[in-house]
Amino acid sequence: MLTSIILSAVLAATPVLSEGPVLREDNIKEVISAMTLEEKCILLVGGNAAKAFDGIGNSEKGVPGAAGTVNGIPRLGIPQIVLADGPAGLRISPEREGDERTFYCTGFPIATLLSSTWNTDLVEKVGQAMGNEVLEYGVDVILGPGANIHRNPLCGRNFEYYSEDPLLSGETAAAMIKGIQSNGVGTSIKHFFANNQELNRLANDAIVSERALREIYLKNFEIAIRKAAPWTIMTSYNYVNGIHAAENRRVLTDILRGEWGFEGAVMSDWGGGYHADGMVRAGNDMIQPGSESRYKALLASVKDGSLSMEDLDNSVERVLKLIVKSPKFRGYVPSEAPDLKAHAAVCRDAADEGVILLKNEMAALPLGADKKVALFGVTSYDFIAGGTGSGDVHRPYVVDLKEGLANAGYALDEGVDAFYAEYMAQEEERCKRINGSSPWFIDRERAIEVVPVEVIENSAVSADAAFITIGRVFGEGKDRDYYHSYLLSENELELIERVSKAFHAKGKKVTVILNIGGLVEMTSWIDKADAVLLCWQSGEEGGNTVASILSGEVNPSGHLPMTVSLSYDREPSAANFPKIFADKPFNYSFYRQVKGHPHHTVKDIDYTLYDEGIYVGYRHFCTFDKKGVLFPFGYGLSYTSFLWKGLKVEKAEGGWNVSVTVRNTGKVSGKDVVQVYVHAPGKTLDKPERELRGFGKTPLLAPGEEYTQEIFIPENSLASFDERVSEWVTEPGRYTFIAARNASDRGLKKKVKI
Ligand code: BGC
Repeated sequence: MLTSIILSAVLAATPVLSEGPVLREDNIKEVISAMTLEEKCILLVGGNAAKAFDGIGNSEKGVPGAAGTVNGIPRLGIPQIVLADGPAGLRISPEREGDERTFYCTGFPIATLLSSTWNTDLVEKVGQAMGNEVLEYGVDVILGPGANIHRNPLCGRNFEYYSEDPLLSGETAAAMIKGIQSNGVGTSIKHFFANNQELNRLANDAIVSERALREIYLKNFEIAIRKAAPWTIMTSYNYVNGIHAAENRRVLTDILRGEWGFEGAVMSDWGGGYHADGMVRAGNDMIQPGSESRYKALLASVKDGSLSMEDLDNSVERVLKLIVKSPKFRGYVPSEAPDLKAHAAVCRDAADEGVILLKNEMAALPLGADKKVALFGVTSYDFIAGGTGSGDVHRPYVVDLKEGLANAGYALDEGVDAFYAEYMAQEEERCKRINGSSPWFIDRERAIEVVPVEVIENSAVSADAAFITIGRVFGEGKDRDYYHSYLLSENELELIERVSKAFHAKGKKVTVILNIGGLVEMTSWIDKADAVLLCWQSGEEGGNTVASILSGEVNPSGHLPMTVSLSYDREPSAANFPKIFADKPFNYSFYRQVKGHPHHTVKDIDYTLYDEGIYVGYRHFCTFDKKGVLFPFGYGLSYTSFLWKGLKVEKAEGGWNVSVTVRNTGKVSGKDVVQVYVHAPGKTLDKPERELRGFGKTPLLAPGEEYTQEIFIPENSLASFDERVSEWVTEPGRYTFIAARNASDRGLKKKVKI
């Protein structure tokens, strides 16, 4: 009430103040000095604070379905700008009341698939297409990409993130940012920082060493921010070492701006952070999506002197600098009709390169499209394009695997097809009843896996081969349940077992396709499959992509952006991550939230110990547990073979030029990925056995063709953060540069003295 009085007072004051300057790129300081305190606060507190404040927009008045806005101040020519979710595409409402048109956005492949391409040029193209939709639908900033590290396979948002490795994450994020921003729209790389679990996400305190922060959990962001200058950054919901991520001045001001030179604006995650003044003081400029109470708190803190006008003005300046870059400010009139067909082709190209062939015994794949296939698994008929929550996209369609196979020319086994047609129709009704009332962020109910014994037996006679799809979908607000999401269900295991028995008895091959947003357990069943294809959630064109790889029309070239361990318990963070919460209520986000300060009562919920330090993913496995790996980081098969030779490591300005010649020695065209790891002396500094320092993907090489892949390794990328002196230090000594196919591959080696 009081706020609406204050807000009305601001509004009432507007005509009197109407003589102010009109915002231009070159008069930001002048505009700031003409702004009232109330106007400054309303600019920093998002659109939800302005509901009572007519004339200053909110998301309903911006783009329907957008996540929020930055308030405009008409008397000073400051337009309202619109912020909408990513990262797998633009998230806005597909339909509008009273409007016949539709506003679908392309459902691109999830972030984890994009990093699996190891092809930053391709990711940039995805960004260009995505950014075009941002522009043409009238949005100014897309809330993505997500770049958090895959610390543990059970994190519910891993699909929105790229990798367990900061270099691969940072480079992929940089490419995405460049692509999107080439359209003259902004990005918001998120969630900054050390935000690796969803349970109790608004209050969990991540306890992380300074070295692990610098080398892993900040490094990913540092690379992307230095390389691609995102217009904005979104801070995360959690605390880090007792300080809220959105209220951490040392990181948001000293490191981010002071050390890395970031010049953009920082916003909170939606409802994140507790103290409005603390956030702005730290350098978290915008409090999103805003509320009247936050507006009130911010105003009060300037009035009582707890927040200085200087800090407030710094944030106002950064937000105005963002606004003058926006399409809205430039007066761009969106067409509201981006070329979704052209973007579907980009989606397809990206997905084609991100699918990973994990196993292919006796060349089970490719399987000619002239064959008859028995298609098992409910997910084959209900393909998963992406995850849930704010990372979801309202896409126009999803090509499932049945449709994809038909498009590729495969005949489907009639018995299996008829069985699933009837079963899926029943299940669809049941799921609709349950999903109808579910909040948007909860896992959606899906068809239960079945084991149609007779159908399996018959199809083993009539079909040439079997494909089984296993699916997993999840998202924001929850981490994954170890038993029900990471492990395969009894039905799924039985389906694989029975199909494999029946088909192998007839000398026919079985392929398992993993249509998942994060890793599942594989060790217990993998020997029953002849081939395993990890297709992630490959966007709206998923079924077409998978079919083209199964048939050999496309040669797989995806490589793992994380390690597949033998079992969950071997994960370096297994002892320090919430594992089983199947019996708890769904809304884990807010579980045990205590406002305003972290508390340390329940481990893995109130606080999480990052005890593995820098030994995340392959850094751990290569150093301490070589045998704990089913598929190493960087791994991926091809339908062709490559021979590498002539590794060169030459000193260049500011680093080393590494090159290796790759020759396609097989019978079909293909692309290969060269990964450059470095083994450091590690005499005075504890160092992992090897760390990825560069990578490159070859162009498509025809059989017999050779290509020299060149990769630049910057000098400073070899340094470690030495906590004793609080500095980046490169220890002198002999370093081994290793050009390898994956983190476990011996590779080609060259020693360099530094
Ligand atoms: C998510 C963000 C998202 C925001 C706006 C939050 O719940 O954590 O990733 O951008 O909502 O929808």
